[in-house]
Amino acid sequence: MFKTRLTGLLGIEYPIIQGALGGGLSRAELVSAVSNAGGLGMITSLNHQTTDELREEIRKTKGLTDKPFGVNVTLLPTVRPVNYEEYFAAALEEGVHIIETSGRSPDSYMKMLKDAGAIVMHKVGSARHARTAERVGVDAVSVVSFEAAGHPLPDDVASSVLIPICVDAVKIPVIAAGGIADARGLVSALALGAEGVLMGTRFTVSKECTLHVKAKEWLLQIGEADTMLVHKAINNTERVIKTGFAQRILEMEEGGAPLEEILPLISGDKVREAYNSGDISDALFTVGQVVGLIHDIPSVKEIIDGIISEARNIIRRLQYIDTGANQAATR
Ligand SMILES: Cc1cc2nc3c(=O)[nH]c(=O)nc-3n(C[C@H](O)[C@H](O)[C@H](O)COP(=O)(O)O)c2cc1C
Repeated sequence: MFKTRLTGLLGIEYPIIQGALGGGLSRAELVSAVSNAGGLGMITSLNHQTTDELREEIRKTKGLTDKPFGVNVTLLPTVRPVNYEEYFAAALEEGVHIIETSGRSPDSYMKMLKDAGAIVMHKVGSARHARTAERVGVDAVSVVSFEAAGHPLPDDVASSVLIPICVDAVKIPVIAAGGIADARGLVSALALGAEGVLMGTRFTVSKECTLHVKAKEWLLQIGEADTMLVHKAINNTERVIKTGFAQRILEMEEGGAPLEEILPLISGDKVREAYNSGDISDALFTVGQVVGLIHDIPSVKEIIDGIISEARNIIRRLQYIDTGANQAATR
């Protein structure tokens, strides 16, 4: 059960991927725990200031798991100059053959990646971008919908519409990203035609994630309506927790404040500090609407085992609905 083209492509047991987590959150402990539990863990390369640091994290992860894991390279604008090619090269040289890109098309790196035998996944937010990714040779697309943490497209299209549209648009496997934290999310994504799910917010609130426990506990208190979009005005839409600070940033952006004034307030260093101290009221904290479905801080293994066993129950229940064999089981 739960074997899809994606599990075959990546060599994993369950079609569950841990989304890249910037701000220093997806470290070896989390990544290896996801892979050891049968999913695919994902190192986030830009968490590392240098490629040597990235190499070290990859080696540490390899010491904790012999299962496949991936490296994400987020191709978004950064304050410090980044040579992305060096990050790709470091990952490939360290023997990681699953690469995920996000932020913009990986077109210019595809030859390098494919020549090295990499499997390339790319995050997209629309059918148009999914088609482009397929055309440039990407092996699977993660479709990031409106609900998601990180950077959904400013089109504001929810997963129930976006996933099947992308499934219809491309032949390569589609991974549903955004709004998934439990078995219901997995089964519904599979029903929409996706061949796997990618979760960010759920894994942020796990024992192995290095986010300060105060911040995790704060996430347990907030609900599905407590996030908002910022940075639309500067073409870099991001979903964050609705705080006074986030609202002030949004007002500055909509009021046309110059970027030089905004950037120091939202720098990666500030976010990283906040994640480490747990005091996140003065930093933009990206989180998905699915935070409303998260009520505990389990281990990664508990999350994945729980999703898989409950997904089996749901599928059995759906079969009862189909056959009408057991009315009680449908409740
Ligand atoms: C704290 C946090 C940091 C993230 N950082 C990145 C990142 O650096 N690069 C990236 O491609 N996606 C990033 N994401 C997005 C996730 O990888 C994933 O696409 C998203 O969380 C899926 O939506 P969900 O949170 O509803 O599961 C981040 C998400 C969270 C919660």
